[in-house]
Formats: sequence, structure tokens, C-alpha cells
Amino acid sequence: MTDQEIRKGLAGVVVDTTAISKVNPETNSLLYRGYPVQQLAERCSFEQVAWLLWYGELPTAEELAAFEARERAGRALDPRVRHVIDEAPTSAHPMDVLRTAVSLAGVLDPEAGDDDREAELRKAERLLAAIPGMVAYDQRRRRGQEPVEPREDLDWSRNFLWTTFGEEPTDVAADVFRISMVLYAEHSFNASTFTARVVTSTLADLHSAVVAAVGALKGPLHGGANEAVMVAFDEIGFADRAEAWLGEALAAKRKIMGFGHRVYKHGDSRVPTMRAALDRLVDEHGAHEVAALYDRLATAMDERKGIKPNLDYPSGPAYALLGFDTPTFTPLFVASRVVGWTAHVMEQRAANALIRPLSAYDGPAEREVPAQ
Ligand code: ACO
Repeated sequence: MTDQEIRKGLAGVVVDTTAISKVNPETNSLLYRGYPVQQLAERCSFEQVAWLLWYGELPTAEELAAFEARERAGRALDPRVRHVIDEAPTSAHPMDVLRTAVSLAGVLDPEAGDDDREAELRKAERLLAAIPGMVAYDQRRRRGQEPVEPREDLDWSRNFLWTTFGEEPTDVAADVFRISMVLYAEHSFNASTFTARVVTSTLADLHSAVVAAVGALKGPLHGGANEAVMVAFDEIGFADRAEAWLGEALAAKRKIMGFGHRVYKHGDSRVPTMRAALDRLVDEHGAHEVAALYDRLATAMDERKGIKPNLDYPSGPAYALLGFDTPTFTPLFVASRVVGWTAHVMEQRAANALIRPLSAYDGPAEREVPAQ
């Protein structure tokens, strides 16, 4: 490729190698370190998947026990982070509040300046343990609710729901939430992960990369889509209005959130697993109207545009049924994807080259500054 052949949005450009995950659009498959994500979602805890993404192998029983003990001990919200969240107006988007909280966590991290792999693994673990508390605290304060302390007898997924809602989740709720977290954890060189790699390539620290990645994830073309899906569902209201709503939205040239993907063109590999998980929640809540709306809109979109749902499409209504407020959905994505981001930070640092592409200049030709 010469510097004159521009690929807008780097579409189709292979930027580097990665051993963390493989997205295969031909077979609609996704592997984490060689394991099909569907099998991981069926058989593994979120903690096991995090370890796999960081270390390359599933943990042994001893490794898992030690990791779980550290993660559970690191969940409490630092009072200084709590104070900063309290200072944020409730009009601020939860992603902006979380970005700020993660940034402060970086400032306060005992190994803030260290970038050897062992220190970065510890920093990544600390973020994994701390982020749910930030997200839960922020949602509760917006509702005028007292914070709920984390519980060390609960696994990561159950504790996340516990600290958010102050009651133990049902087995279905905990399992659906765990599955969504496994599915969101990693997806090769997506926009936010690539952002984290760009920041790391300058030799900046792990928290700087994660803060930048939170910013990239916020946009509705990326992680912000799970929130936007629910906004659309609320706008549509009832299944039998899906076709008319879609017709109007497409006529207005609106992007339909939760549909389409840069890499998958025949359907997102993660959707069938998440849709099955959503169905379990639909049954538990008797929320069959949600499933009907989901199907009507997806069918209409396929008929009109031939575009399939992405992971954000089933995740949005699932998070609503779990009880999360819509603006909290993208922070949930952060809580999971921080694993993928930090795995990529470590991979980038281990074989670094500054990421610095070229541009083709199309501004004014050289000219003289008028005499002043
Ligand atoms: N709604 C309406 N039209 C769409 C959509 C959509 N969701 N997605 C793609 N298209 C159309 C485009 O308008 C374009 O049509 P045109 O050729 O007539 O102009 C064509 O399909 C190709 O679309 P692009 O935007 O060029 O494809 P790209 O690969 O750049 O886009 C993207 C991928 C950004 C995800 C896009 O599908 C989109 O905007 N989707 C909605 C946002 C969304 O759901 N994002 C979540 C991504 S997955 C994740 O983060 C878990």
C-alpha cells in the first residue's frame, strides 16, 4: 500500500499481530486465546476468562483461588474516588464519571509509575476489582440510594449485581450478567482497544491507555450503542410499531443502533449466545413484549437493509431487565472490556513500535504569510 491509498477508518488494514483473540468474519467465530467464546461463556467464570486473556492459559485451581482472593479483597471503593464521584453533577454522563474515577485510580495506584509486566498485571487486577464499585456507586447515588458494601463471599459477577441493587441476584440474573461480561471482554483491534494500544505505543502508563479507551468506547458507533439500543426500544414502545419506526428512522438516514459491524458482515458471533441469555431473563420476568420487539425490529432491519444485530442489541434489553439504568449500560461494557484493553496494553508494550500513521495532505498549497 502506498501513502496515497487511503483506507478511511483503517477499514481492512491489518495493523499488527495479536495472540489475544481471533475474530473470523467468514465463520462468524471469536476465539479468546484459541477457545471459542461460546464455550467460555458456557463453562467459565468471568474471573477465569480474565486470567485467560491476561496470561494466555486458563488458571489452575491454585492460581484461580489466589486471584479470586486478591480480587475480592480489592473491591472497596477508595474514599477519594468516592469523593470525586460525589462531586460530579448527576447531569454528567456515567461514562464521563467513570472515566474520571478510573483516571484518579491511576493517580492513586501504588505502582502508578511502573510498567513492567508484573506491575501491569497487578494494576489490571486492581482495576477489574475496583470498577464495579465505581459503576454501582454512581448508579445508586443518582437514584438517591445509600451505597452497598461489596461482599467477599460472592464472585465478581454476583457481587457487581449485589453492590448495584443491594439484593442477591437470582441464579438466572447472575448467569446472564456473567455471560454478557464474558462476551464483552475482548474483541481484537476494535476502536477502544486500538486507542489503548496507540497510547501504550508512546510508552505512556496503563491507566492513561485505559482512560483513553473509556473515551473511545463512549461513542454510539462503539460501546455507546448498548445504551442507544434501549433508547430506541423505549421510543418504539411496542413490537407492532417496530416496522413503522424503522421506516421513519431509515428515511431520516438515522443509524439503527445495535446493528451492523465493521468486521462481521453476516452476523456477530456473540449474538446467538447473548440472545439465548436474554430469553432466560425474558422468561423470568415474563417480559415477552421485549422479545417480540427485538424480533420484529431485527427482522425488519434484515428485510430492509440486510444488516444483522451486533452484541449491543441483545445486551441493551438484558441490562434493562437486570435493573440497570440505561446510561449505566456502557460503563458495564467498560467493567468487562478493561480486561481486553489491559491484555493489549501488555502485548503492545512487550513488542512495541510507536503507532504513527501517515496522512495525505489536502489543504491549501504552500503560500506566503502576508506582511503584517
Ligand atoms: N443502521 C443503518 N445503516 C447502517 C447501519 C446501521 N446500524 N450500519 C451500517 N449501515 C449502512 C451504512 O449506512 C452504509 O450504507 P451506504 O453504503 O448506503 O452508505 C453501509 O451500511 C455500510 O456502513 P458503514 O457505516 O460504512 O460500515 P462500517 O463498517 O463503517 O460501520 C458500524 C460499522 C459503525 C458499527 C455501523 O454498522 C454502525 O454505525 N452501527 C450502529 C452503531 C452500533 O451498533 N455500534 C456497535 C458496534 S459493535 C460493538 O461495539 C459491540
